[in-house]
Amino acid sequence: MLAVTVCVGSACHLKGSAEVIRILKDLIAAYGLEDQVALAGAFCQGHCTEGVVVRVGDELITGVSRDKVFELFQQKILGRCRA
Ligand code: FES
Repeated sequence: MLAVTVCVGSACHLKGSAEVIRILKDLIAAYGLEDQVALAGAFCQGHCTEGVVVRVGDELITGVSRDKVFELFQQKILGRCRA
């Protein structure tokens, strides 16, 4: 199971973390990856000026705006899941 956590701390929240979660949730469902990806919210990750912060496994990804979510999904999540 691949853990994907989106920071929902106040700084990331203001930068749209709820929208990032919604888009990721839709993409995970669209690709049928619900049993392979565990999506969750997380408290502040200590990179508040670089939000939205998303952690995929051990990797921390910063600056995830809503228009970058699909790119992140393709590059960091889809490749780590079974087809
Ligand atoms: S609020 Fe997201 S890193 Fe601090």
